[in-house]
Amino acid sequence: MEFDPQAFQGTAEYYAIGRPPYSDQLVDIMSRELSLNGTGQLLDVGCGPGVLELELARLVRQTVALDPEAGMLREGQRRCLRAGVENVRWIQGAAEDIPTLGVGPCRVVTFGQSFHRVRQLEVAESVYDLLEPGGSLVLISNEVDGRPLPDGPGYPDIPRAAVRELIVAYLGEGTRQYLGPWLQGLATKFENTLMQTRFGGSRTIYAPGRSDLISDVDTVVANYYSMSYSAPRLFGDRRVEFEDDLRRLLCEHSPTGLFWDWPGDTELVIATKP
Ligand SMILES: C[S@@+](CC[C@H](N)C(=O)[O-])C[C@H]1O[C@@H](n2cnc3c(N)ncnc32)[C@H](O)[C@@H]1O
Repeated sequence: MEFDPQAFQGTAEYYAIGRPPYSDQLVDIMSRELSLNGTGQLLDVGCGPGVLELELARLVRQTVALDPEAGMLREGQRRCLRAGVENVRWIQGAAEDIPTLGVGPCRVVTFGQSFHRVRQLEVAESVYDLLEPGGSLVLISNEVDGRPLPDGPGYPDIPRAAVRELIVAYLGEGTRQYLGPWLQGLATKFENTLMQTRFGGSRTIYAPGRSDLISDVDTVVANYYSMSYSAPRLFGDRRVEFEDDLRRLLCEHSPTGLFWDWPGDTELVIATKP
């Protein structure tokens, strides 16, 4: 993955609509595994539109939300304000800026689907310096690969392979490398990376993903527009044409216009500072 802190420019408004939520057990598991009790500070790196802030801010006294993309921070602030989540400080910047941010000791540093976007060894080491003794780095993502497929609600899957070809037809072969399945097996890669740092290792646990999510065509379109590789701006003046084609393709695959959207289980790679 190329280092591009602005890759998500113009995607924030679609993110909240189009991205499936993490496990509904995430908060309980984080609280239990990390002994969070409403004290301490949490830094969330690559916060996007406040996804983890909405869930986890209540587990600590103070949360710092960091993201290089101004649109994401604005959307995160708006959503937290609406939800009455007040203990969040929003900072524009990249993970690589952590040593110069002036953020005090943290009990937890989270990366929700953002660690693959950073210079991992360098950033993991600066997180190590920032953590209190006993504090943890937690890499959170959705994992389908190798996870048992739950029973679904009976709607067709989102036709991801066909959509992939449509995106490549519009944006060129060079896009294919970003369309997956490179995201699969990230936990193993992260575990290997963390072995090479002062953390010296990590443990991986899973929270059951939401098996009841049903997405309509608008939600699936928003999901693709929330991705860095198919962000709306990339289609330029062919955007309307692309969206018409995408909607047609989706309707061909599901006459009801509804899809089963299983995001996989929520994976937590946890590395704790002694
Ligand atoms: C896939 S989104 C994840 C949003 C949210 N954390 C979640 O769990 O859904 C990745 C986020 O990482 C941010 N990002 C990209 N490069 C980054 C970097 N070098 N440092 C910090 N954040 C970065 C992007 O702007 C984007 O908001």
